[in-house]
Amino acid sequence: MRFDTNLSAEDAPNIEHLLLGVYPTEFEAHLVESLRRRRLMAAEHGLWDQGALVGYVAYTPVHIKDQSTERQLLGVGPLAIHHDFQGSGNGRKFLEESLKEIDADALFILGHPAFYEKVGFQPASNFGLRFSDDENQNATFMAMECWHGALSGLNGIVEYDHKFYEE
Ligand SMILES: CC(C)(COP(=O)(O)OP(=O)(O)OC[C@H]1O[C@@H](n2cnc3c(N)ncnc32)[C@H](O)[C@@H]1OP(=O)(O)O)[C@@H](O)C(=O)NCCC(=O)NCCS
Repeated sequence: MRFDTNLSAEDAPNIEHLLLGVYPTEFEAHLVESLRRRRLMAAEHGLWDQGALVGYVAYTPVHIKDQSTERQLLGVGPLAIHHDFQGSGNGRKFLEESLKEIDADALFILGHPAFYEKVGFQPASNFGLRFSDDENQNATFMAMECWHGALSGLNGIVEYDHKFYEE
């Protein structure tokens, strides 16, 4: 398998195909298409197997509502591993390799806590940060400081691009 930090505009059909296959609705595929079209991706990484895209992860800038900071904060996701490649450590290895390439002060992700804790995320509430006023969503909202103290002094709601809320 080949890890790729250089996805291009031509890879759009591969990304769409992967996301449509992995997620139950078209939301993530449409979200990524919109973010790419508006050039809002801070980074994107892929995992290829014999010409097929079997892993994908996106990074987009996020902000803290009503607070300004010089710190570079990124939301991780969507993240997807093709069904045939899930459950064998590929997702974890792919995300660990991907995170090494990312230049940021702190990262956020909304997803399965048991999976993201294994790569160093912890509940965002530990830092006084949340996704929304919905406690169910907040329970799966995770954060990671890339250096100790990167999130200190920040609190409140972490805001993504508006498309993330249009499900
Ligand atoms: C979530 C996803 C990226 C994980 O990839 P994967 O290759 O299946 O995961 P791995 O095999 O590397 O799992 C690593 C560890 O996380 C755990 N894990 C994986 N998926 C999990 C899940 N959905 N919930 C809880 N734990 C999970 C595994 O049990 C494994 O634990 P171990 O190291 O103790 O054995 C993949 O299943 C996927 O694409 N799912 C559909 C899309 C999705 O939900 N994306 C994430 C949205 S937040």
